[in-house]
Amino acid sequence: MQGAVTPGYTADRETVLKLLNEALATEIVCVLRYKRHYFMAEGIAADAVKAEFLQHANEEQQHADQIAARIVQLNGEPNLNPEGLTSRSHAEYVEGEDLIDMIKEDLVAERIAIDSYREMINYIGDKDTTTKRMLEGILAMEEEHADDLVGLLEEMDK
Ligand SMILES: [Fe+2]
Ligand SMILES: [Fe+2]
Repeated sequence: MQGAVTPGYTADRETVLKLLNEALATEIVCVLRYKRHYFMAEGIAADAVKAEFLQHANEEQQHADQIAARIVQLNGEPNLNPEGLTSRSHAEYVEGEDLIDMIKEDLVAERIAIDSYREMINYIGDKDTTTKRMLEGILAMEEEHADDLVGLLEEMDK
């Protein structure tokens, strides 16, 4: 009962599952950070920024869900244990002092996510095209997120 995992699956499944669980932890930390920023954002420029934080939080949640579903397809188990979440995650949970600080912290996290997805895609190569395609979609969205944040900083002249 191997489901989607056939003998033709040539990737190292255990390693792929470990990488996917790290990506899952990263996405969850990003959801939590963006939610915190969404609720804490205040000031003159806060409305547009809040909307962006909320949208990013929802998109990171979609990424987490996609990754968890793929882990199960690969006969693994998504690690959703809050214990150790931040050590499994590539990105950090930083609360930020003010609006600008929050945006800058989010940008740092997005750039870390971009690099880690790029590394995973290169590692997986053509050995697991479904996982690779999913990661490429997520990577493209993380790049958009980083670009949105730079746009916000520019608008705020920072
Ligand atoms: Fe994401
Ligand atoms: Fe993102």
